[in-house]
Amino acid sequence: MHYCKYNSEYIPLLRYINILQRTGMPGPLGLPIIGHLHILNPEAPYLSLHAWTNLYGKVFKIRFGSVPCVVISDVDVLKKVFSQEESTGRAPLYLTHGIMQGNGLICSEGPTWQEQRIDQNLGTECGVEVCQLLEKKLSAEGGIIDPAEILGHCIGNAMNKLIFGITYKEDCKVWIWLQDLREKGIRMMGVSNVVNFLPWFRFFPYNVRNMRWIKMGQVESHLEYERVIREREIRLEEGEEPECITDFYLQEVQKRNKAGLNLNSFTRNQLYHLQADMFGAGTDTTVTSILWNLLILSSEGQNDLQKRIHDELDNGRQDQTQVSLLRAATLEVSRLRPVTPLGVPHGALASLQVGDWRVNKGTMLLPNHWSINRDPSVWKNPEKFDETRFLDPTVAFKIFPFQTGKRRCIGADPARDIIEGVLSHILKVYHVELEPDVDPWHDPRHGFTLEPQKFRVKFTKRVTTVKN
Ligand code: HEM
Repeated sequence: MHYCKYNSEYIPLLRYINILQRTGMPGPLGLPIIGHLHILNPEAPYLSLHAWTNLYGKVFKIRFGSVPCVVISDVDVLKKVFSQEESTGRAPLYLTHGIMQGNGLICSEGPTWQEQRIDQNLGTECGVEVCQLLEKKLSAEGGIIDPAEILGHCIGNAMNKLIFGITYKEDCKVWIWLQDLREKGIRMMGVSNVVNFLPWFRFFPYNVRNMRWIKMGQVESHLEYERVIREREIRLEEGEEPECITDFYLQEVQKRNKAGLNLNSFTRNQLYHLQADMFGAGTDTTVTSILWNLLILSSEGQNDLQKRIHDELDNGRQDQTQVSLLRAATLEVSRLRPVTPLGVPHGALASLQVGDWRVNKGTMLLPNHWSINRDPSVWKNPEKFDETRFLDPTVAFKIFPFQTGKRRCIGADPARDIIEGVLSHILKVYHVELEPDVDPWHDPRHGFTLEPQKFRVKFTKRVTTVKN
């Protein structure tokens, strides 16, 4: 779709219609049918919403095609809204309600979502494997490499262990195919984005082909999941203890069958979707977070910070009442480079209060983390990287990389463990240095997540500086 660079406020006729449209909540001028899609920057929608936050305030309305949306850029309003049961729906998009048909965890609502949202202890450890593979690649290719592939494999395997109780070898054909399928699926979901808001777009031949491809991919990956599920069922029948999400799910089904209870949403199809959701939601987000941290920590501007982190890793924390330097740095990275700058939108299941306004059932509720994280009334010099602001343990609660409230990310704890575990393993062993002439803040890519451009890092083995 053509993207109009100019804010429609400048066009007099449209401005007049805008005044007519303003019946309560503020917001930019929209057009019939497409709403605000024509003035939304498709490469960086968070920048359009940030500019509108400055113009219309911390709660404003827009329309994505036929979907009405309220954008929330206020910490307190967001916390209050997302703590309510009425806000735990998903936005009425073709992706969630059409393609996924409300299956799995990410796209489900109401009783199915409540039943499927079982918080398990999801702890995992993969820093050692990352370092082993880095070592292997460094000795084969020399000191300067792109770490993305190694991280994709190791974090993907950490998710495999967590969800399916298995890991794949790097060169396993099934694993390469599954990763490829996920990568292409994410790209297609991205290009098919507009289908979510303009349902008739899905009948265009290009989109028909994409949708068919996505559905085929689903069917094929579910066949592989079924193979793994059968293996897990045999293990459990032989009396082994449950050790992954699939096992816990199968155990719940078994319990219900034994007790003669209704299975409700605990179906095979639901299990496939849950497995895919956990894998999809957990892998890219975690890999991208680690990449942002590596990119920024290895840049010249953060040389001193890296030295201080090395010192803390070697000698321990000086002040136990403060947050560790590494954690403070990861929090500051996720403030300025949130992996999901616009989070994952919710949908209003019933009418509800958002700040000073009453919002109708069916409205999309969009958390604007990009603006929250650089709100000048909360953050001094918001555009400046300064990890020391997070040394105070209470400050962490002012950003929400995993969102907030009843539907908060189910993988927040393992994600944090993996990110800090992998980074501390790498930084204990290596000094990292970004390749020359790369600006770490330049031009992030916005797709499924906000990613850095491809970059390479020089890894140099370091001598530890343990003080007696
Ligand atoms: C840095 C890493 C991660 C980030 C930034 C992240 C971010 C998010 C966000 C913003 C949401 C939306 C929450 C909401 O709708 O209110 C979400 C949901 C979700 N995340 Fe994560 N996530 C990460 C890692 C993980 C991991 C490791 C897993 C799996 C082990 C995971 C599984 C999920 C699932 C299943 C949902 C859907 C929850 C629901 O709809 O009830 N995420 N995540």
